[in-house]
Amino acid sequence: MSARSGGSEAEGRQPEAAAGSTLLEIDVLTLFPAMLEAPLAESIPGRAQDRGLAAVRIVDLRRWGLGRHKSVDDYTYGGGAGMVLRPEPVAAALDELRRPESTVVLLDPGGEVFSQERAHDLAERSHLILLCPRYEGVDERIRSMVDAEVSIGDYVLSGGEIPALVVIDAVLRLLPGAIDAESTAEESFATGLLEYPQYTRPAEFRGMTVPAVLTSGHHEQVRRWRLKESLRRTLARRPDLLEGRALTGEEAGLLDEVRGDDEAGRK
Ligand code: ADE
Repeated sequence: MSARSGGSEAEGRQPEAAAGSTLLEIDVLTLFPAMLEAPLAESIPGRAQDRGLAAVRIVDLRRWGLGRHKSVDDYTYGGGAGMVLRPEPVAAALDELRRPESTVVLLDPGGEVFSQERAHDLAERSHLILLCPRYEGVDERIRSMVDAEVSIGDYVLSGGEIPALVVIDAVLRLLPGAIDAESTAEESFATGLLEYPQYTRPAEFRGMTVPAVLTSGHHEQVRRWRLKESLRRTLARRPDLLEGRALTGEEAGLLDEVRGDDEAGRK
């Protein structure tokens, strides 16, 4: 099923842009297609597909289910609670969908924690297959069929659909033309820092005012203020991001100023 056209699985989507301009194709293998359809049809993911930058197909894994009941899961060998996703339906689906250039990603809480860097990496690929397990997990042999295992954080969800949506959203917005390039260049993590504070009208709201520099019209001062506030916020909330990052001379100077401001504030 196309995320955008609502058509059949085989049909694919009908982008506004000329065919052939598609940068990234994504097949999402799931037992719950409806969980993905509406979120992928809206906002930036929907627009990226409308513009023909990406084609997302939602594919029902049960198509490769076994027997009359299209069974996809079974009890765990050795005993224990919950059902495990069988390897045969997954292998059959991958045999049909995989191409030489495909990257197969298993969504799994035990995988590598998803990051902006990984989002950029996946946005460079031409065909992703995202495998969304349900139940207690997957037969271990499925892991040998995938190229990467990705977790969206240290908590357990009921399946891979929401993690797949997170990955797709983060990836599609990076495709050239999906959104204004300046927005992605300056936002949190793109620079290795958290984003600076943003304000819009009114200039005063419940006694809180907009920093004067932002209404001064001095572009260079605005740039320096934003960089300093990015550093201040990163130091306060995510100091780990600064540890792994080489600072420019200007950043090091501004960070010293931030530390000086903090000390002055304590006195
Ligand atoms: N499946 C269940 N929980 C998950 C998580 N945190 N990340 C990726 N896939 C999952």
